[in-house]
Amino acid sequence: MEKEIHEQPDAIAHTLSAMREASSIENELSDISNLVILAAGTSHYAGQIGRYWVEQLSGLPVTVEVASEYRYRHPAHIDGGAALAISQSGESLDTLMAMRHASELGLKTIGIVNVPESTIAREAALVLPTRAGPEIGVASTKAFTAQLTVLLSLAIRLGVKRGHLTAGRAENYHKILLSLPGAAGQAIGQFETVRTVAQYLKRAETCLFLGRGPLYPLALEAALKLKELSYIHAEGFAAGEMKHGPIALIEEGLPVICLLDHHELSGKTISNLKEAEARGAEIILIATHSAAEQVDFAAHKIVIQDCDPMISPAVLAIPAQILAYLTAVEKGTDVDQPRNLAKSVTVE
Ligand code: AGP
Repeated sequence: MEKEIHEQPDAIAHTLSAMREASSIENELSDISNLVILAAGTSHYAGQIGRYWVEQLSGLPVTVEVASEYRYRHPAHIDGGAALAISQSGESLDTLMAMRHASELGLKTIGIVNVPESTIAREAALVLPTRAGPEIGVASTKAFTAQLTVLLSLAIRLGVKRGHLTAGRAENYHKILLSLPGAAGQAIGQFETVRTVAQYLKRAETCLFLGRGPLYPLALEAALKLKELSYIHAEGFAAGEMKHGPIALIEEGLPVICLLDHHELSGKTISNLKEAEARGAEIILIATHSAAEQVDFAAHKIVIQDCDPMISPAVLAIPAQILAYLTAVEKGTDVDQPRNLAKSVTVE
């Protein structure tokens, strides 16, 4: 897993060139009326982040489905839709069967897959490859940031094709996307600063993750990483949702980990965080530099260089991965083969 965390700048760069080679995507998708994203686990959270980008940049309606639920539902689809199956292995049975279900319902099928010869890659009408290379560690890292790379690139290109984005704005977003490998490299450089936080977090029995906007599904992913690697119970929430119930969980010393970038929503996230801190929560901040400067009540800060908020879900994912990894190392769990988990879940 540590090796795969360090491979992310290359995985992202290779995936960017693969997207450049896939020159006809927007033509093949220009007539779709909506997108239904189908996936499981970490790939599902990548889909949730992708929804923010596709809807914002292309105006295309997007729904994100839990694959194992979708395959047994009777979804009422709008005609002319496409189903986007996201899977590192391309063999997750829930996602494969969900894609087949969507195809039976008449949806065009697209696959974002990391294993070129996999079943989903073979069966999907259109494949958008991630080029992260083989991912061995059960906990998905480089495949996740590569999936986000494909989703943001797709959102920009659909935006231009659907006339939702001017060529000038698209050019600007492409420049931001091209800065992602560098920003990822800088974030990996934070490895040692994260270790001290991991030495504190290893004692926790439970903790909460918070985020707003596309950082909300990233909070869900960060919680999954900590759960599956360190076996510490962790739950992710939309920061604005805390006051509707989860805030009742807050007691003295409960770790609350917040993902924060300098974005129009950061002020709202900080006031939600203040509510948690006021009730005794131990605040851990994973944030861009400018955002971190706005918070003077965090007990622990993991700070990365400022990057454009459009790519911060992909960049902030890295210190969240490192925190889960180092906390597991501190606890002595098997980080590459966590208990009860398989790399590719080919059963129901
Ligand atoms: C993530 O770290 C887990 N290994 C798991 O949630 C995984 O993302 C899920 O099983 C989906 O796998 P896939 O991307 O290969 O379909």
